[in-house]
Amino acid sequence: MHPTQKKITTHTIRTKKAMGEKITMLTAYDFSFARLLDQAGIDILLVGDSAANTMAGYETTIPITLDQMIYHGQCVVRAVNRALVVIDLPFGSYQRSCEQALDSAVRVMKETGGHAVKLEGGEEMATTIRKIVHAGIPVMGHLGLTPQSIYQFGSYATRAKQTAEAEQIKRDVKALEEAGCFAIVLEKIPALLAKELTEMVGVPLIGIGAGKYCDGQVLVMHDMLGMQTDFSPRFIRRYANLQENIQQAVAQYCKDVREGGFPDESESY
Ligand code: KIV
Repeated sequence: MHPTQKKITTHTIRTKKAMGEKITMLTAYDFSFARLLDQAGIDILLVGDSAANTMAGYETTIPITLDQMIYHGQCVVRAVNRALVVIDLPFGSYQRSCEQALDSAVRVMKETGGHAVKLEGGEEMATTIRKIVHAGIPVMGHLGLTPQSIYQFGSYATRAKQTAEAEQIKRDVKALEEAGCFAIVLEKIPALLAKELTEMVGVPLIGIGAGKYCDGQVLVMHDMLGMQTDFSPRFIRRYANLQENIQQAVAQYCKDVREGGFPDESESY
């Protein structure tokens, strides 16, 4: 890290909203990619429970455990010099009680060296969030399409298109701000609702499938780097085509080895 380059803190994130500067966030789950993303200048690295999908191949985020999230968090933290590292509390590690949530958040902070935790839920999580924040742990909220509740929603369709759910999200954003969240992810809600929410509160709102008016944007790294093409909702923009690049490289390697073209003299001792 350049000596004049400052580490990103939760204070930096709040200041960015106040200054009208957009916040950048991507997921990361391992040392090698986290180092690349950090060196490229990302503000926030989210060790998302989407690791259940991208790293472990599960269909939903439900199965990943606290121990597994801690392992991914440790790998990412070792790589990072500048970015703020936020680690998801996985399903089942915080819903039972405030005490359970605080114990999980403390484990994440102590065992990974990460800088904040994220959890899903609205008004009903406010007391829990307050408890974690009072213990000195920064909390990022997550509203809209909250993947840990997928079996309650029944599908990955856009949330809050109807007035009642939109009104509930407004109450949720306010409750999470009052509870002390330093930022909130808004997933897959209408852009105009996200605009209204962004103008309504001082806490930074970071969108994924929530349009351009949010204070920042987050994407799953594997989606934006084009490492998979099976899942392509319209909010994903692919900035690279690593699936093709990697498959071409591997096919070429196999060909070279099979035909005796690798290694050559210069690659031998
Ligand atoms: O786990 C994750 O990747 C997330 C993002 C979708 C925000 O929570």
